[in-house]
Amino acid sequence: MGHLQELGMRQGWTYETIVSTFSHEVPHAAPIGVWTEQFNELHMEIYDSSHTLRNILDTGHFVANFPPDVALIHAALFHSAQLTFEPAHEIASPLLCGSSAAVELVLRQASPLPGRTRITGMAVHVHTREDIRLLNRAEGLLLESLIITTRLPHLDNTAARGTLAENYRVIRKVAPRSHYEEAMADVLRNVDVPS
Ligand SMILES: Cc1cc2nc3c(=O)[nH]c(=O)nc-3n(C[C@H](O)[C@H](O)[C@H](O)COP(=O)(O)O)c2cc1C
Repeated sequence: MGHLQELGMRQGWTYETIVSTFSHEVPHAAPIGVWTEQFNELHMEIYDSSHTLRNILDTGHFVANFPPDVALIHAALFHSAQLTFEPAHEIASPLLCGSSAAVELVLRQASPLPGRTRITGMAVHVHTREDIRLLNRAEGLLLESLIITTRLPHLDNTAARGTLAENYRVIRKVAPRSHYEEAMADVLRNVDVPS
């Protein structure tokens, strides 16, 4: 069955996955960020307009598939006909082929928030491959921010500083208490952007 600990997720960090569900027996997939707190459940916040949310609430079953790279997220958004699925082991949901890991989930809680719903799924089966890849936005955001700092004299100053502040906000959200957060705070100090 496998355990969530095997994935190497850090508590409270958000990882980008592709959530697969059934919509009236038809497989459906959409990128969704997930995090864990106690390593027995995954949490996510899903916009109320989302088909994925409707499918989860209708069926009570869903799978968080961890893509090996961003290309699979691109395919899920723009080339869904290219995606292939197989049956999940413990639940009535499609499992996305080609993931580096996948977690089969049973809906435990759905809590309304403004414009979105916080979903908690209990992990009932964890699939892992040898080369598990976890995608977190903090590293890319820090890298982009470093590039922006080298270009500040040539960019629209207000817009560039706004982007740096926004990148810091997102880094703190997706990788709290990380070295990315520390490094980004240092970047802001160096270019005199309030954090
Ligand atoms: C990397 C990435 C992460 C995303 N994370 C979320 C998320 O956490 N919650 C959400 O509601 N939408 C998220 N989205 C947007 C949904 O994937 C997008 O709205 C999608 O069209 C929903 O599809 P659906 O209506 O078929 O479920 C994300 C998109 C990307 C590209």
